[in-house]
Amino acid sequence: MGATEAITLDGVSLGRLQPGEAAAGLALSDAAGWNQTADDWRLFLAMADVFAARAPDGPVVATAALLPYASAAWISLVLVHADWRRRGLATALMRHCLDVADQRSLTCWLDATPAGATVYEQLGFRPAGELVRLRRKAAGLSKPDTPRGCGAGDVAALVAADAAAFGFSRAAVLTEMAGRAGSQLYRKGEAIALVRDGRKARQLGPILAPDEARATALVDDILAGEAGELVIDLAADRGVLRAHLIARGFVEERPFLRMLRGAHHVAGIGEEFMAGAGPEYG
Ligand SMILES: CC(C)(COP(=O)(O)OP(=O)(O)OC[C@H]1O[C@@H](n2cnc3c(N)ncnc32)[C@H](O)[C@@H]1OP(=O)(O)O)[C@@H](O)C(=O)NCCC(=O)NCCS
Repeated sequence: MGATEAITLDGVSLGRLQPGEAAAGLALSDAAGWNQTADDWRLFLAMADVFAARAPDGPVVATAALLPYASAAWISLVLVHADWRRRGLATALMRHCLDVADQRSLTCWLDATPAGATVYEQLGFRPAGELVRLRRKAAGLSKPDTPRGCGAGDVAALVAADAAAFGFSRAAVLTEMAGRAGSQLYRKGEAIALVRDGRKARQLGPILAPDEARATALVDDILAGEAGELVIDLAADRGVLRAHLIARGFVEERPFLRMLRGAHHVAGIGEEFMAGAGPEYG
């Protein structure tokens, strides 16, 4: 089956999500209570292969995307509307993504919810790490929002630190995210992090630092400047940072299993990787 070929499955047609269809994607992620914004969907439609399933009467009922990075790809936005689950739609759309990956010889990574992991295991993915999502409700500070913005030098530093920690460059994606109106870069010594708007909460990540002590010091600066609701997808084995976040009012919400399909020729999570950029980006 060609990756761009439209097929039908029980009356549902499978093909590509079109460039102008960010709103249809957003409706699906909103229905699942996810944090993606219209900007996230537009980024995927501009930079990724996004596949969609459409009900016989037209609406998009499922999606899956393959976001290519320098030497690997991230699979994400695997979402099936609650009324359409357990009919093979996630599996069928994943196969479209894997066809593209195989044609380009890309190793695939993803951050799986527990439900998603059961689908991916059957497609040859294996565990490669764990993350945990922590959330802090709005802190209720009276402090006005700090002006947002990311200088070009800071963005270059983020891209370089991220590539060193992650194992492959995510320059285009991080530069786009840092350029959004609500984005803010924080630096303290060699530690660096991005905070950006989400649909429900601001996303704190990636966080990159030589060690947890320096990441913790940076996080304290960030918390002083961020009064609203925050989520962070922390590498699960960062015990010092995890305990610190909990002491500062964060609550553990759900695990993500980082999974890999293909040759393990990239590092995935280096020592400096403290928190991800969001499950759809890694
Ligand atoms: C996870 C999700 C994408 C699965 O979509 P789906 O179209 O229902 O999945 P499929 O029909 O292709 O499932 C294939 C197989 O995976 C397994 N599976 C799928 N969902 C499962 C679940 N909730 N619990 C246990 N096993 C599950 C089953 O073995 C299933 O085969 P079966 O139905 O014949 O038993 C969907 O439940 C969803 O959108 N959930 C909310 C968002 C989410 O968590 N997305 C994953 C992000 S990583």
